[in-house]
Amino acid sequence: MMQIAIETKPLEQIDAGAIIVPVFEGRKETRFGAAELADSGEVSGKLLELTLLHHPPGMAAARVLLAGAGKPEKFNPAELRKLVAAAVRYLKDKSVKSAVLALPPERAGYEFASAGVEGAILGDYEPDRYKTGNDKKFIESFAVAVAGPEPVAGAGGGPADIGDAVARGRLLAEAQNFTRDLVNEPANRLTPTDLAKAARRMAAEFGLECEVMDRDRMAELGMGALLGVAQGSAEPPALIVLRYRPVAPTVKAHLGLVGKGVTFDTGGISIKPADGMEKMKYDMAGGAAMLGAMRAIAQCRPPIAVSAFIPCVENMPGSRAQRPGDIVTAMSGKTIEVINTDAEGRLILADALVYARRQGCTHLVDAATLTGAIVVALGHLQVGLFSNDDGLRDRVLAAAKAEGERMWPMPLDDDYKDYLKSAFADLANVGGRWGGAITAAWFLKEFAEETPWVHLDIAGTAWLDDSKPYLAKGPTGVGVRTLVRLATQWQD
Ligand code: BES
Ligand code: ZN
Ligand code: ZN
Repeated sequence: MMQIAIETKPLEQIDAGAIIVPVFEGRKETRFGAAELADSGEVSGKLLELTLLHHPPGMAAARVLLAGAGKPEKFNPAELRKLVAAAVRYLKDKSVKSAVLALPPERAGYEFASAGVEGAILGDYEPDRYKTGNDKKFIESFAVAVAGPEPVAGAGGGPADIGDAVARGRLLAEAQNFTRDLVNEPANRLTPTDLAKAARRMAAEFGLECEVMDRDRMAELGMGALLGVAQGSAEPPALIVLRYRPVAPTVKAHLGLVGKGVTFDTGGISIKPADGMEKMKYDMAGGAAMLGAMRAIAQCRPPIAVSAFIPCVENMPGSRAQRPGDIVTAMSGKTIEVINTDAEGRLILADALVYARRQGCTHLVDAATLTGAIVVALGHLQVGLFSNDDGLRDRVLAAAKAEGERMWPMPLDDDYKDYLKSAFADLANVGGRWGGAITAAWFLKEFAEETPWVHLDIAGTAWLDDSKPYLAKGPTGVGVRTLVRLATQWQD
């Protein structure tokens, strides 16, 4: 695990493998002997441009890494997070072991310091835990340097906040990496039972209440939609319930986080093509995001009650598997014709949403790798956001914006519901070829009913096929930071 510290010495005296120095566009950097590079245009300050200087004059550190920060008026904590992550990824590749971030004095506030630490921990992550060999390169220690003039008012806090900010950044990024590790686990090493075990262990470590329901309990509760999906696998299903309760609740709301936990999605009898099917190990990314969020919430201790509900199944085409045409009865009493067994996420979420409402949740947010259609609509850059409540939608969007997690509001007009008509049951589990992400969301809305609810379709954003300068390929941990901010900044 990365060591994190605060450095108060003047920059020249800091002994480190590298000091990361943000450089803004249009502001010439003249320190560290960089004036010439700035004059020649080699150091322009363009976002994520990296220039490594060895043994810069007058510095104790071995290197200075000039890191392009873009236009100063556009610079925000989200850009700093990316900048630091890109810098850390660049440095560790060069076998550097310790790095220090020189926070620009006018950006030395709480949000920037937190984002800087997050960038370091998120950038250091690699999804290669099953590679043997000892040639792995990591940044082992990281510090935020806050020496220099007093922070300018309005930068988002003063030096007294820096300790808190660093602690928050650390716990947030570690929670996000916890999610990434779970998402990255292959399905033979993470069954529904294993996911429940991981949740129990995490809950015990951070002081959350944890309950895991088994097949019998779910049958008692009438969760026919969830159990229909589970019956095709030899692996038993599990419904994970985590509860965080504030000591002194100052808000009336009870937030319910519902996450899709399909540890592997073959499609079931409506089986998927072989090409790319290995990626369906990440079909529990929504559930893992909720586990990560709860891990952080347990440490931040916001004044709102938060519960998480994670239905876990393996979608397999076993001899007991449900068939197209089967009709199941969800916990709410609604009947569903299963036209396509590959549309399993909405089935398990239907029962989890109903259960969450019966548990007293006043507001619901679900996250799910729900549809290929959202990837067609938004690519790999934006989370698709659907809601039945403008107020909750705007809160989630605001939290996402502050965290630099891009989420795009999608429509849910009433007449999309017609696509889900079934001749034989209350509704079908698929809505045909067009508007697939919307009809999937509409299906969930039928089970959220009147409770304010937001649905996040993360099928395109939970996994990166190609690395970015600031992020390894593989699991992203999308959603965790937004959900934690939603909870910690909640006001009735
Ligand atoms: N897990 C998939 C959705 C998915 C697709 C996630 C691509 C990540 C990347 C989901 O269970 C699914 O199979 N959805 C079907 C629904 C269809 C049968 C209506 C889909 O999107 O094709
Ligand atoms: Zn599926
Ligand atoms: Zn799925």
